[in-house]
Amino acid sequence: MASISTIARGVVAVVATVTLAAACGSGSKTKSTPTSQALTGRGPITLAQGKDTSGNVQHQIDVWNKAHPQETVRLIELPESADQQRQQMVQNAQTKSDAYTVLNLDVVWTAEFAANRWVTALPKNQFDLSKFLPAAVQTGEYRDNLYAAPWKTDAGLLYYRKDLLEKAGISAPPKTWSELQTDCGKIKGVGCYAGEFDKYEGLTCNFSEAVDSAGGEVVDESGKPNVNTPQAKQGLDFLVQGFKSGMIPKEAITYEEEDARRAFEKGDLVFLRQWPYQWALSSKAPKVKGKFDVAPLPGLNGPGSPTLGGHNLAISSFAKNKATALDFIKYMTSQDTERANLLASSEAPTLASLYDEPALQKKFPYLPTLKASLLNAKPRPKAVRYNDVTTAIQEAVYAALTGKSTTDQALAGLQSKLGPLTQQ
Ligand code: GLC
Repeated sequence: MASISTIARGVVAVVATVTLAAACGSGSKTKSTPTSQALTGRGPITLAQGKDTSGNVQHQIDVWNKAHPQETVRLIELPESADQQRQQMVQNAQTKSDAYTVLNLDVVWTAEFAANRWVTALPKNQFDLSKFLPAAVQTGEYRDNLYAAPWKTDAGLLYYRKDLLEKAGISAPPKTWSELQTDCGKIKGVGCYAGEFDKYEGLTCNFSEAVDSAGGEVVDESGKPNVNTPQAKQGLDFLVQGFKSGMIPKEAITYEEEDARRAFEKGDLVFLRQWPYQWALSSKAPKVKGKFDVAPLPGLNGPGSPTLGGHNLAISSFAKNKATALDFIKYMTSQDTERANLLASSEAPTLASLYDEPALQKKFPYLPTLKASLLNAKPRPKAVRYNDVTTAIQEAVYAALTGKSTTDQALAGLQSKLGPLTQQ
């Protein structure tokens, strides 16, 4: 089994290839290293984030509130969809509202929020960053400053129904797309494969994974879009053909994470591409508990390459009580809180040592697979105009999946749209 430091090195190498954040953006370089003195004010604060699917964020807030009655935290739950969460946070920042104090930022939003100065730089010396997975730390950085503390990391996994595979005489989960297609041919009467294919950030993740898993890349290390390649075509064709052949049930075109999870838990799917958070929830779902496992995503010629996801904690520039906010972020990213969160939610921690704790490995047999997937994970482009990048991807891919354009037309259009957005 690869050690976490090997994984960390692998992930760093991958992340280091995407240097767009340093190259683009309108934000000017921060001259001095921020200190915690700049973060003043104590009192009640809020945490704004997407749906608390495990309920554990509220639980951890309750623990904090008991210990800090003068500095309580109120959870503000935003919509389920990543894009809608971003939209609300951006609107809030544009009106300089102090309603949100701590922001749960998706890893792909750091550059935009930092360059626009919607979030405050965090004092690096208040966090022992050497203890966190380097790839996760990098997702919270912009121009050498830390704007969001690494909290939860993420990588796509293949959830599969062990019982259905066994019944069909299949001894191991598929490692390649052609094995997946063959397995789907053997299991009748149930939808075979799904991911998140609605027109939102999840589609960008699923598309990027398909391209990377065919040996391609959406944007190369110099920031040049690279989707007019045979590999990108093979990746997108895997999804387009999946819908055409019925391997992917047609309703999956409306799936975001929670829709996909519900379909799997209803027993409607054999295979599902999903993030680690589903493990804990499906382990309680009556129809599938004890009957599923996870494997690395399959790819064109062998195991695929998942997309690096995750969420980090930042402080809104317009908020009051920033000193409380910093303490709260330190609490949420501490070893004990991250361990408790893994136990309660199965979300991937950012603290490296947790992956090696035998008790955790015993409780979560998926941890080694998750480690391997993180080792392979590829970041999405880091760009201040990331929202334009992802919108262009979503439009092109959605048009191909719904038959409004061919794969070639979609990729050619995307190639020309991405250029000005990623090469700044
Ligand atoms: C997960 C990932 C996040 C990604 C989102 C897409 O929450 O952690 O990085 O953008 O899914 O829906």
